Amino acid sequence: MKIQGSIALVTGANRGLGLAFAKALLDAGASKVYAGARDPSTVTLPGVIPIKLDVTNAQDVAAAAITCADVDIVINNAGITSPTPLLDKQDGAAALRRLLETNLHGIHAMSQAFAPVLKANGGGALVNMLSALSWLSLGTTGAYSVSKAAAWALTNSLRNELRAQGTQVLAVHAGYIDTDMVSHLDAPKSSPADIAGRTMQALAAGELEVLADDTARRVKGGFGATPSAYLATA
Ligand SMILES: NC(=O)c1ccc[n+]([C@@H]2O[C@H](COP(=O)([O-])OP(=O)(O)OC[C@H]3O[C@@H](n4cnc5c(N)ncnc54)[C@H](OP(=O)(O)O)[C@@H]3O)[C@@H](O)[C@H]2O)c1
Repeated sequence: MKIQGSIALVTGANRGLGLAFAKALLDAGASKVYAGARDPSTVTLPGVIPIKLDVTNAQDVAAAAITCADVDIVINNAGITSPTPLLDKQDGAAALRRLLETNLHGIHAMSQAFAPVLKANGGGALVNMLSALSWLSLGTTGAYSVSKAAAWALTNSLRNELRAQGTQVLAVHAGYIDTDMVSHLDAPKSSPADIAGRTMQALAAGELEVLADDTARRVKGGFGATPSAYLATA
């Protein structure tokens, strides 16, 4: 996918990794970048076009597909997490549903709405922000890992359904990234700019998957180990 001269939409582009994606697209020469945000007044990056887009709101998604009918790159970045254990009797089921609503159904709704837009604009690219936790669950990430594993399967399935129209579907996996989402954790983290930069390289090279940091490479590489990486206790 040629980024120079492209027109892109990033979800959750007001802060964190989404902001870094929007900056990286501008730096790589995208001619227009729509910055989706639940509250567009929180979009502060110069040079982007803020649009109101809650990926769990069907009206927002439908309106975005009309407003952004010229896009050829869609980056599904918006995501949430929760520390609630899956088996928590009070909130476990509700937390799982909430995470699936954003991290899975949000990507699905955006992909459904924008598939015809991408087709009309020559195929383009769909980029889904996944995680090393698509393949691994830690003690506190049960519901998040379920949502990211489902989003990984969704991404692989969407790639098949979009192949005929020539849409590049790029899955991005990474470990901890230095954003609000994990600000409470004292652990090594990649910079959002590094992950966004690696994603731009993969997009430009026509890749289908990017293991954007050492953690993602280690976890995926650990599938063949005995015991497999996902069987390790944490
Ligand atoms: N940080 C990490 O360690 C890490 C690692 C791997 C993957 N990821 C993934 O990277 C992506 C970005 O996360 P981040 O680290 O930048 O997290 P973050 O700092 O918490 O930012 C999350 C972004 O998603 C937006 N968002 C949440 N729900 C939304 C919805 N329903 N509709 C539209 N936007 C919504 C937030 O908007 P508001 O400002 O309105 O809340 C915010 O812009 C997520 O998919 C996350 O799962 C993160």
